[in-house]
Amino acid sequence: MENEETEYDYKKLKEAGKVSADALKHVATVIKPGTKLSDAAESIERFIADAGCGMAFPVNLSTGAEAAHYTPEFSDQRVIGDKDVIKIDLGARKDAYLTDCAMTMALDPAHLKLVEASEKALEDAISLVKSGRSINEIGREIEKTAKSCGFNTIRNLGGHGISQEELHADIFIPNFDNGDTTPLEEGQVIAIEPFLTTGVGYVTNGESIQIFQKTGDVMPRSQDSRDVLNHITEHFSTYPFAMRWLIKGMDGNEFKARRSIADLLNAGDLEAFPVLVEKSGGIVSQAEKTLIVEKDSCAIVT
Ligand code: CO
Repeated sequence: MENEETEYDYKKLKEAGKVSADALKHVATVIKPGTKLSDAAESIERFIADAGCGMAFPVNLSTGAEAAHYTPEFSDQRVIGDKDVIKIDLGARKDAYLTDCAMTMALDPAHLKLVEASEKALEDAISLVKSGRSINEIGREIEKTAKSCGFNTIRNLGGHGISQEELHADIFIPNFDNGDTTPLEEGQVIAIEPFLTTGVGYVTNGESIQIFQKTGDVMPRSQDSRDVLNHITEHFSTYPFAMRWLIKGMDGNEFKARRSIADLLNAGDLEAFPVLVEKSGGIVSQAEKTLIVEKDSCAIVT
């Protein structure tokens, strides 16, 4: 932990940032009606791996009222429809340097206004970023832009600090003025992510859980669960992983993977991230970039 600040390698962060931004550009060629969500996810994840990076987390492809945390299931049969509004949230990792970025594609032109509003909210928020800026001012700006376009922001989702090894660290950057006057600091790495919706602006846990993260090291009794925990440690470390990655790693043994995950959750070795769904069923749009706070502005990493 010594000299962590001075050893921070912005070059590696920027490398991962470029790969993330390129992956988002690649997405536009992959996401179209008739494509299987799982094929789209694998194509994006392969793109990032081929560019020499790891995944900061499984690519999220949340549609409609799903705001976040949907990544395709193992043998997912869902096909992208011509009315879908799809959020693509992804992050590349170079060693311990993580990035996080997102965009939304509205295949139904009726929702383009919502998508453009979230992009504008992100731009307006970024224009305020500099050292000393209070985080509630960022949130106020995001909400102002959203309201001026006729939409609500999602109150219980927001941006965050990013530290080495940890995607959600230090600070929460709200999508409204929550009164938190914590100032941004020069050199800080943050992600700003306005979530806008046609609904009331609040997400709750949905039924589907596809993303997990290792948080403990208690060895379970069952041999299967031990195998699975060892696989997680070796292949995913403490980064979030997808159930479909694990099942593939178990040579398609779905029963073993699922039963062991339940066992490891019980033992306190894992955290689960359920799909987050807009409470009133509103359509959700998201835009996100990773930034480095500078003295008078910021550098965009993704
Ligand atoms: Co984020």
